[in-house]
Amino acid sequence: MFNSKITGIGHYVPDTIVTNHDLEKIMDTSDEWIQERTGIKERRFYKPDEKGSTAKMAYKASLMAMERAKVTADDIDAIVFATLSPDYYFPGSGVLLQDMLKMGTKPAIDVRAQCSGFIYSLSIADQFIKTGMYKRMLVIGSETQNIALDMTTRGRGMAVLFGDGAGAVVLERTEEKGKGILSTHLFSQGEYADALCIREPGTNSSGKIAYEGIDEKHELIHPQMDGQLVFKNAITRMPEATMTALAANNLTPDDIDMFLPHQANLRISQMVQRFLKLPDEKVYNNIQKYGNTTAATLPILLSDLWEQGRIKEGQLFALAAFGSGFTWASALIRW
Ligand SMILES: CC(C)(COP(=O)(O)OP(=O)(O)OC[C@H]1O[C@@H](n2cnc3c(N)ncnc32)[C@H](O)[C@@H]1OP(=O)(O)O)[C@@H](O)C(=O)NCCC(=O)NCCS
Repeated sequence: MFNSKITGIGHYVPDTIVTNHDLEKIMDTSDEWIQERTGIKERRFYKPDEKGSTAKMAYKASLMAMERAKVTADDIDAIVFATLSPDYYFPGSGVLLQDMLKMGTKPAIDVRAQCSGFIYSLSIADQFIKTGMYKRMLVIGSETQNIALDMTTRGRGMAVLFGDGAGAVVLERTEEKGKGILSTHLFSQGEYADALCIREPGTNSSGKIAYEGIDEKHELIHPQMDGQLVFKNAITRMPEATMTALAANNLTPDDIDMFLPHQANLRISQMVQRFLKLPDEKVYNNIQKYGNTTAATLPILLSDLWEQGRIKEGQLFALAAFGSGFTWASALIRW
């Protein structure tokens, strides 16, 4: 069995910054409400006139990750692509990226695990590399979420939370023991599928969107969430998954050099931090400037830290995510 390690990290966020004050102008909300409940100050939105945004942002993040890993698309054996906001209903965005990168007939795997999508994808790529099937893979999280949000007062409970962006890592085979991805732990609980979802277009109800009467279909075509249920589960499941990962590797929270929680809400991250008894300098949050970018969140956090020179050889990173599904997951990485 081989190990896999991250050799390059990249990200891309759209230029358009949408502040809480910008939102105050189009819905009944306030900077104070948003910051107090979520910690978010601003987020990025992809402009609606730019088509193909999820795959395009992934392309830009991938180029950065490959450049930093000093490889080209010719060196990549396969793509694993996580998103809840694909460019098409089908096919997934993985093949669009595969085409943009001119990867011939190499495979692209699409993953739908929402906020846990990046760790799920990392885990899938890790297994392919461990078994020796592939040597080097691109793992992507990319989201264009603003187009699905209801940007009126009716949709304010969700609209203020999300942002757009993409992150990518190059994962490759290493024979160094005790380095790279130490473990991934994945969980789901489908009984809560309706607690955070967009129902249409889906085959469960009408099977197709009828444009007639679309205004009355607010509950179906925009994201819906039982916020308090999600909150309660997130603050329990993320520490639980992290503790499971630590126990599996004979480690404790004291061994963590940096903890990266999925960025759904700064209050959730702070509660998870308290549960794990981690000091502030060992936890990194950037939700203040990007909002919740779902599958893109963790690779954007990693890329931010990489750019700040805060990823050092030998450090132990713990990643945890929770989101729609419910799905949740953890990963331990030794650099
Ligand atoms: C979304 C969240 C911040 C809402 O906080 P909350 O304390 O549960 O707030 P509620 O939804 O109960 O709403 C409280 C009040 O604020 C109002 N409100 C909701 N959104 C608002 C907004 N953007 N601006 C102003 N007021 C708002 C509500 O209408 C409600 O008013 P009412 O008391 O008059 O009915 C919180 O539930 C949360 O973070 N949940 C988890 C989110 C998450 O993790 N999502 C993604 C998973 S990956």
